[in-house]
Parts: sequence; structure tokens; C-alpha cells
Amino acid sequence: MINNKLKILNIILFNYNDRVGKILNYSNIFKSSINKLKIEGRYRYFNEIERKAGKHPYASWISKSKNNDIIVWCSNDYLGMSQNKLVVNSMIDSVKNMGTGSGGTRNISGNSSAIVNLENELADLHSKEKAVVFSSGYVANESALSTLLNILKEPVVFSDEKNHASIISGIKKSKASKEIFKHNDLNDLENLLKKYPEKKPKIIVFESIYSMDGDFGDICGISKIAKKYNALTYLDEVHAVGMYGKKGSGLAEELDLQNSIDIIQGTLGKAFGTMGGYITSSNIICDTIRSYASGYIFTTALPPALANAATTSICYLKESDKERKLQQKNTLLLKKYLANQNIDFIDNKSHIVPIMVNDPIRCKEISNILLNEFKHYIQPINYPTVPVGTERLRVTPGPLHSEKMISDLTIALKYAFKKTQNINFKKHA
Ligand SMILES: Cc1ncc(COP(=O)(O)O)c(C=O)c1O
Repeated sequence: MINNKLKILNIILFNYNDRVGKILNYSNIFKSSINKLKIEGRYRYFNEIERKAGKHPYASWISKSKNNDIIVWCSNDYLGMSQNKLVVNSMIDSVKNMGTGSGGTRNISGNSSAIVNLENELADLHSKEKAVVFSSGYVANESALSTLLNILKEPVVFSDEKNHASIISGIKKSKASKEIFKHNDLNDLENLLKKYPEKKPKIIVFESIYSMDGDFGDICGISKIAKKYNALTYLDEVHAVGMYGKKGSGLAEELDLQNSIDIIQGTLGKAFGTMGGYITSSNIICDTIRSYASGYIFTTALPPALANAATTSICYLKESDKERKLQQKNTLLLKKYLANQNIDFIDNKSHIVPIMVNDPIRCKEISNILLNEFKHYIQPINYPTVPVGTERLRVTPGPLHSEKMISDLTIALKYAFKKTQNINFKKHA
């Protein structure tokens, strides 16, 4: 009797699944979403490369049939610190002494002296009372912002329109009202702030260097307005830490404005050459984030070896500005060579040199030519990372690129631009 009932149930379920399968073909839905990306020229192909310790900016490009030496021009290891001998040895020694993993969350057995030292070092770097370390800069922004916004009572967040995806995600995860101000536009920001009563909690969120255009956020102007309207300031210094300021703390330090910013966020994964993210602020703000942010509480802590390597890198760059100086020299050199060849780039004040192509297919094609014919690797940057029609090659010259490499790259770029001059995205669409 029971067997018969089960058989009938199975037949009903089978028919149901069959019917749903016909109506709703999940694979086709995913396939058409991928096809859309391919048609729009923004399907992401990842180049597989193997970096070589001590040889930066050289790496091996692992393609199907061959193994080639290439020069990397698009790394966020801006100063080559991931291959700095002191940093490498610090990680190796720590692994030998303490093993590979942290063994738990910060709360449950994962809190090491290495991570506590790292937080102290970061607080000192930014002249703040305290720091909180996260697994990445992305997680730091998402967790810290959503937590702050959820704790304040009915806050309003004022966010620059060019803020990074992690900031947008943190804001979306909160219930805060949001106002998006025009990029770096102090008048627009002030007009939006004026709409709200003095007692309303407010946070202004912006970046010190916008990673795709390489322009600077107006730290001075925004912090003055924040003071006038009693708003908190949250500054993402991801692309500036290690790179600017006497100690390598970032742009706020260079402008002597660290005290004007309430919360500074950064990464250990770019100029510091390791991995992880953080915020630095007052004791009470850090304690609040530490106590409420689920992206901090419910995840495995950074391994001690990673924390020690990051601390070594930060301490090294506090003392040495050799790498920063060489990097800046090479940025100016590249800009000079590009200008001489009439290659269009955004002439900003930062270390990021965006070479404008303004067409997704051509951008990919130029990148392919550079890699296949000249062994120069620059990843094409397309929508949604940048707006449609502003596709580019984002070049980050480092201290270890030579003048010969810069000159060779410029000649290769000139050739690739010429070879692709008839490629037009609209023709392909
Ligand atoms: C402005 C900005 N903030 C945050 C992040 C995330 O940092 P991480 O790479 O450490 O996750 C990035 C990443 O590129 C970024 O560009």
C-alpha cells in the first residue's frame, strides 16, 4: 500500500519536474546572460600568468601551447613589495613557525599576536587610535559601511558617484537613505547636505584616488564641508596607501589631513604587496565595527604569516621612499613617451595612467596585439568597470620598469593603435 503511494508520488513529481523543465530551462537563461556579455564585448577572459619572485615586472604567460616571458604593466602590486626579500622572508619564517592558517575567527581561536601587531601598526600609520583588519579591502568597505549605517539612527549617506563597487554594496546592505553626489562636486554635495536637519546622522563616503581615471578626491574641500554640516567622513585610500605621504600612509597624510577624516579604509593587497583590508578610526568606532560587523565576526582571521608579511611591508615603506620615488619617475617618463607619440591618456596627478581606447572590441584587440606580438601585458578595462565608450588600458608603471621597457611599450602601443584603427564596436554589434 505504502509502496503504491510512493510510486504514484514519484510519477507526479517526475511529470512535474518534466513540465517545469520544459517551461523553465535554467541553462538557457544562464547561456543567454553570457551571450549578452559576449555580444557587448565585455565577456571576461582571464589571462593566466605566473609571477616570478625577484623578477617583477616579468612573469610567465601560461597559454595553451606555450610558456612565455611577458612584462606586466597592469599590476596593483604598485611597488613590487610582494617580492621584496624582507616581506617574502617574513612570510616564510612565519609559516615555518606558526603554520599556514589562523585556525579560526578572531573570536574563536584565530586571534594571533601577528594580527594584533598589524592592527597597531596600521593605527600608527594613519595616526588613528585603532584599526580593524578584514579579509580584503572589499570586505572592509562592505562590512564597515553597512555596520556603521545600520547602527546610526535613520542616517543619510552621501556617496561620490564614482565610488567603488564595495562601497556601493556596503551602502545597499544598509537601510540608510542615500544621496549620490556628482563626482568631486562640492556644490552638489553641499546642496544635498543642506536638505537635511542638523540632527540627522550623516556620512560622506569618497575615495582619495579613483582607480580608473586616477584622479584625486578633494579631501580638503570635502572634509571642510563635512565639518560645517557635522557629517562623519569615510575615505577609501586603497590606491594611495603605501604610495603617498612621507610614511606611505596615503594622500590624507601627504596633505596633512589625516585628522580631518573620521574613518580611513585601506588595503594590504596593492602597494603593500600582500592581502587583506582594514579601517582605522577612533577606539569607539573601531570597537563598534569589531563588535557588530558580520563580515569581520563570522569569518576566518588572516593567517599570522600574512599579517606578519603585511606588517613588514608597512614598516619597510614607512622608512623607505626609494620605491615611491622611482615609481613616480617612471610614471612621468611614461606620460612623456605617450605624449611624444600622440597617444591619448588621462593626464592626472597619480601613478595610474589610463590610455583611452573608447571601444570595447578595439580595446581587447589592442591588448591582444601587445601580448601576442610584443609580450606586454595590459588588461583591457571595459564596462561595467568603466562607462560604455570609455574603454581603456589602465597602466601602472612600477619602480622596476626600465626606460627601455617604457620606450618599447610606447612603440608597441602606437603600432597596435594603427593596426586597429578600422575596428569599430558598432560595426560588430
Ligand atoms: C577603490 C577600491 N576600494 C576597495 C577595493 C577592494 O580592495 P581589495 O582588492 O583589497 O579587496 C578596490 C579594489 O580594487 C578599489 O579599487
